[in-house]
Amino acid sequence: MKLLQLSDLHLPRPGEQLYGQDPHIHLREALADIAAHHADAELLVLSGDLADAGHPAAYRALRGALAGLPMPCQLMLGNHDLRDTFAAVFPEALDADGFAQAHRATPEGHLIFLDTLEHECTEGHLCPRRLAWLQSQLESARGEPVFLFAHHPPFRIGMPMLDACGLAEADALHALCQAHGNVRHLFAGHVHRPVAGSWRGIPFSAVKGTHHQAKQQFADEFVTAMEPPGYAVILIGADNVAVHFHDFPTRAQP
Ligand SMILES: [Fe+2]
Repeated sequence: MKLLQLSDLHLPRPGEQLYGQDPHIHLREALADIAAHHADAELLVLSGDLADAGHPAAYRALRGALAGLPMPCQLMLGNHDLRDTFAAVFPEALDADGFAQAHRATPEGHLIFLDTLEHECTEGHLCPRRLAWLQSQLESARGEPVFLFAHHPPFRIGMPMLDACGLAEADALHALCQAHGNVRHLFAGHVHRPVAGSWRGIPFSAVKGTHHQAKQQFADEFVTAMEPPGYAVILIGADNVAVHFHDFPTRAQP
């Protein structure tokens, strides 16, 4: 199974720039690269911070940009998103509880997508309702492999400014993972860095944004960097997960 993970699009209103460049152009370039090289992927996951400030026009532009894709998309929310304006454009993306959380069954296992957005919080949260939903999803997987996606990572990457605004309920998430024992990989966004490792024994990966990146520095300072953007190509088999970090060419950085 081939999945693609795009993250942290940070789309402003069309025509506006962010850090001197146009995030909508970066998205179009990412999608063109996908159409050229990965049209056979079974799913495109967009792991949050779809919009930079939750503007309805940003979500409308996203809806238009994704319309011609050959594969389905899974839309997730990050701290820069606004659930209400998102839902006005993508009403089908919210579940009965009103969260952009979802489950997809595949031959290789269960894909579970969390909604860690808490209004006006930079860090991520899983409230009791969302934790209860996750628990029921893990239970219905009945021990089969689970691949978990969240915008906010529960793990630390050693960059203090980012580690301070990850998932607040990391211990509660870990308790559920431990109780069920079937979470094979955690996929995150939010950090705007290509990072892989393990967290309390669970493998993880996080990806670059499609627009701007976080400069790699292990100090109490966050610096935005216009490094080449990228996305992840995720290959999942019966006994294997491989995550390829792929930089795509852009007009700004051919
Ligand atoms: Fe972001």
